Amino acid sequence: MQLSEKIKNSIRDIQDYPKPGVLFRDITPLLANPVLVREMVQQLIKDYAGQKIDAIASTEARGFIFGSVLAYELGCPFIPVRKSGKLPYKTRSQSYALEYGTASIEMHTDAIQPGWRVLVHDDLLATGGTAGATADLVQALGGVVVGFSFIINLSFLPGEKNLKERFGLPPHYLA
Ligand code: PRP
Ligand code: ADE
Repeated sequence: MQLSEKIKNSIRDIQDYPKPGVLFRDITPLLANPVLVREMVQQLIKDYAGQKIDAIASTEARGFIFGSVLAYELGCPFIPVRKSGKLPYKTRSQSYALEYGTASIEMHTDAIQPGWRVLVHDDLLATGGTAGATADLVQALGGVVVGFSFIINLSFLPGEKNLKERFGLPPHYLA
């Protein structure tokens, strides 16, 4: 079976969570499958091998799960992007809309060296609001966004189109 099919088969759909009309894709069954997790991580390493990536920026909470593994495997710094009020040092903030509301995220102002090539990673792409706001912060702090990486793309939502239009980069996803 193809990796994308295994991933799709391991996602649980929850109707009307966190609010009516939203079909929530729950990745916890996937996280409970270490054989599949290993296969996913190995695929991601292959996909990014040989690319010059100086850091991975990921947004809490779910983005941290594979973002930190990817940074470890690629041997580069991990930049945590957190919901507002959680980072202790000087921060830059960015507000954004996502499928089920609005939010604001922050990055430490010293997280990026000028010109760093940064890969934005998150678990899931829906509208692209979160990844777009993360990329805005990377650029505002002097980095260059070189790609968007996700485990899952919700193809019935406009995230892929939105990121392509805003950043000129086709997002990469495993399923
Ligand atoms: C989820 C998911 C992505 C985002 C995708 O995070 O982990 O970060 O939504 O949606 P978008 O493409 O419309 O922005 P959420 O804000 O629910 O936070 P969590 O990771 O803490 O669950
Ligand atoms: N983040 C944004 N939209 C989502 C969805 N439908 N399922 C899981 N996470 C999400």
